[in-house]
Amino acid sequence: MSRPVEIDVAALHPAVDDPALNSMNFLNEVAQRYPDAVSLAAGRPYEEYFDADALPRYLDRFRRYLTDDLGYDEAGVRRTLFQYGRTKGILHELVARNLAVDEGVTVDPEAVVVTVGCQEAMFLVLRALRADPRDVLLAVAPTYVGLTGAARLLDFPVRPVRGGPDGIDLADLRAQLARARAAGERPRACYLMPDFANPSGVSIGLADRRRLLDLAEAEDLLLIEDNPYGLFPADGTTRLPTLKALDEWGRVVYLGSFAKTVLPGARVGYVLADQRVRGADGTVGLLADQLAKIKSMVTVNTSPIAQAVVGGRLLAHGCSLARANERERAVYAGNVRHLAAGLARRFPPPSPVRWNVPSGGFFAVVTVPFPVDDALLARSAQEFGVLWTPMAHFYDDTAAVDALRLSVSAVTREQIDLGLDRLAALLADEMDRRGVSVT
Ligand SMILES: Cc1ncc(COP(=O)(O)O)c(C=O)c1O
Repeated sequence: MSRPVEIDVAALHPAVDDPALNSMNFLNEVAQRYPDAVSLAAGRPYEEYFDADALPRYLDRFRRYLTDDLGYDEAGVRRTLFQYGRTKGILHELVARNLAVDEGVTVDPEAVVVTVGCQEAMFLVLRALRADPRDVLLAVAPTYVGLTGAARLLDFPVRPVRGGPDGIDLADLRAQLARARAAGERPRACYLMPDFANPSGVSIGLADRRRLLDLAEAEDLLLIEDNPYGLFPADGTTRLPTLKALDEWGRVVYLGSFAKTVLPGARVGYVLADQRVRGADGTVGLLADQLAKIKSMVTVNTSPIAQAVVGGRLLAHGCSLARANERERAVYAGNVRHLAAGLARRFPPPSPVRWNVPSGGFFAVVTVPFPVDDALLARSAQEFGVLWTPMAHFYDDTAAVDALRLSVSAVTREQIDLGLDRLAALLADEMDRRGVSVT
């Protein structure tokens, strides 16, 4: 038998060997190796309310929308659900209605491209913006690893902007813009999550949102707003307007995901790109149409069956995902508050262990008096039975980071208690080994 072909990884695109692309696999592998560990690592949605019986109901609801609202005949319905379809998707009208109902934003449905998860939306936007070797992307750090990985695949350098306790350090954004431009680079956009960010859990206040938009306008910068967690405030009610809702000039490209509000298995998200693009022939169209051209060469179109399931759930709740997720919102809000209270009980002052109390979302960050790496995670899983995510995975360099991310979206309060007990034991053990005083 001949030997199979062997390819040196160095002969492949460098991204395949990049830490950003290894990150998710590594974390999944640890989780699979220790299935009995309590996972405060996964940013997955709560599973208890997944209902397989609802899927045919949603499909049927969307079918009725096609016939009753859009006037399709049976052949049209079959074609829409079974065939290759519109590149920009078949959910655009419902996405527009959802944004009107839940976010108070009026958008042109033609500016919506329905994508295979928000991940594809990121990829399309970055592909379109990365036009020249001088182009760089700014991203608030710590940054969602899916963004960094997509940028790597596109040879799009990412320049970190300090996030800090206010969600974005505007002085640092200004400084990074100036530094990049002085170095001959072209900052094309800044990626950020203004609401309950992954991984920091931090939100940007209203005044800073306005300042950020003013800065973007003054600096001729696009903002890429990613908003998978905005519906989940910890007090159940307080939500700030999205950047897109405050955007007077069309500075914001808005990314949406149905992973946390409908089901991640559908793999449906979208990008709202209402910026105008002037063609070489002088005609003006939407950025969304340029993104659709790229999409046609990446995934052709988003599965219409998956879109129909998402559409059915939207229709079943008057296009409000806030209403559709009342039970989930209560779980997440309760869990985030339970986590904060549990941390306060286990690490009372003057403990060197610190954490932020997020105002919503799935995540909180715990800061400890030693570097947190993958080896410590492996020891935590094996010896203490608890999983979490080293914050180093969310920074685009190799510097040590003294912090870890906890996620409470896919666990019960009992599991949070057990996980925190185990985490406290790990941290006490590690501080003891290192001779760090516990108080
Ligand atoms: C900030 C952020 N953006 C995007 C995504 C990916 O969303 P999707 O599953 O729709 O691709 C996630 C998933 O965890 C996320 O946390």
